[in-house]
Amino acid sequence: MSVDLLLNNGTIVTSAGEFKASVAVDEGKIVAIGSAASMPPAEKVLDLSGLHVLPGFVDAHVHMREPGLTYKEDFLSGTSAAAAGGVTTIFEMPNTLPLVTNEKILLEKAALLKDKAYVDFCLYGLIVEDNVNELAGMARAGAIGFKLLLAEVTGGVPRPSNGLIFESFKELAKIGLTVSVHAEDKNVTQYYTEKLKAVTKEPIAHCWARPPIAEEEGIQLLTLFAAQAGNKVHLVHTSCGVDLIRAAKAAGTKITAETCPQYLVFSEEDMRTKGAVLKINPPVRSKVLVQKLIEAVNDGTIDTIGSDHAPHSVEEKTKESIWEASSGCIGVETMVPVMLTLVNKGLIKLGRLVEMGAENPAKIFDLYPRKGAIAVGSDADFTIVDLKMEKTIKAEELHSKQKVTPFEGFRVKGLPVYTIVRGEIVAERGEILGGPKGIFVRP
Ligand code: DOR
Ligand code: ZN
Repeated sequence: MSVDLLLNNGTIVTSAGEFKASVAVDEGKIVAIGSAASMPPAEKVLDLSGLHVLPGFVDAHVHMREPGLTYKEDFLSGTSAAAAGGVTTIFEMPNTLPLVTNEKILLEKAALLKDKAYVDFCLYGLIVEDNVNELAGMARAGAIGFKLLLAEVTGGVPRPSNGLIFESFKELAKIGLTVSVHAEDKNVTQYYTEKLKAVTKEPIAHCWARPPIAEEEGIQLLTLFAAQAGNKVHLVHTSCGVDLIRAAKAAGTKITAETCPQYLVFSEEDMRTKGAVLKINPPVRSKVLVQKLIEAVNDGTIDTIGSDHAPHSVEEKTKESIWEASSGCIGVETMVPVMLTLVNKGLIKLGRLVEMGAENPAKIFDLYPRKGAIAVGSDADFTIVDLKMEKTIKAEELHSKQKVTPFEGFRVKGLPVYTIVRGEIVAERGEILGGPKGIFVRP
């Protein structure tokens, strides 16, 4: 009896360590791990000598903009960027149009995207002021979790009141799903934005308008609410406030945190050279805070890495006034190479990256060990990388519809060679192979 695929001679990497082994795949699942001699015969064999076999990366934070904002990105282009970048599962954010605020809209979004995914996908529901009664329905429909925004972002989602947030947290404690929160609080950012708008339109003013206290205030509020409601809170795109997160974890609050490559690589100084291309919310921080963030990545305070892939048109990203430009940058295709570069620079261990990029997101959102693991019975999702290969990131080579990126010209060392989703090679050395066969995955 032969299996579909054999991965031979690679080095398997998990958070627990590295080992040389072969992996046998059949009907989309991992069926054996062991010595090459112990493997069954296979239809197809990949010789992975010199390469590292990581569990497929789970990017729990992307905005593929479909439906409603498809001039920025669509699901075909966005998921092909994911595949080319070594990401095998994405969690799509709910600030598409219509906003994903009930079961019907979520099911319609799942049906619309079903045949347009090059990688597997999950869908978030959105918490707004008047939909606490819809959360259970969205959970039934297969939502991976919920998004809550304390800031205003693309799609124009108003900030819910504190009363509603606490109510929805109590409801989520019953439902059991995680809420991912944009913690930067609008109250502070609005005040400083208005004040600065009157005197400057320089890019750096975007950072001044959204100081760390805005994010820290939000983290504090969420920690208090989560501790009392007992639900699971995941802070997305964390850029600061790591001492608060550490304290909340030590106190037993069910709080986890994501950061993104752009907060580890860039600082405020880069606003002066990159301008609105690097305008993101929360903004990039001072070098001192970047250093603190890297420490938090390594000591486990930060749990996951996500891209916050947030495409906008070239026109929207290159306005003369920083206040007019849209916030957000693409990143799903560059996340793995940029993080492998940090591994090569000695800033983070490869096993820790696997934990943050695959194991932890799968665990936090109840997909583990189907996703995020190299184990018999798990989905055969792999990000197979060459740690020695180097390249300069060029926007024009990316698969996104809108290609403007702050990583233009960034030299990376470490690239995905094969992206494998449920046993199918969906990308090889940045080239997409075959059609969109990704599926909608429920927790
Ligand atoms: O910069 C951002 N852009 N931050 C977010 O949280 C949302 C995103 C978007 O959707 O454009
Ligand atoms: Zn986002």
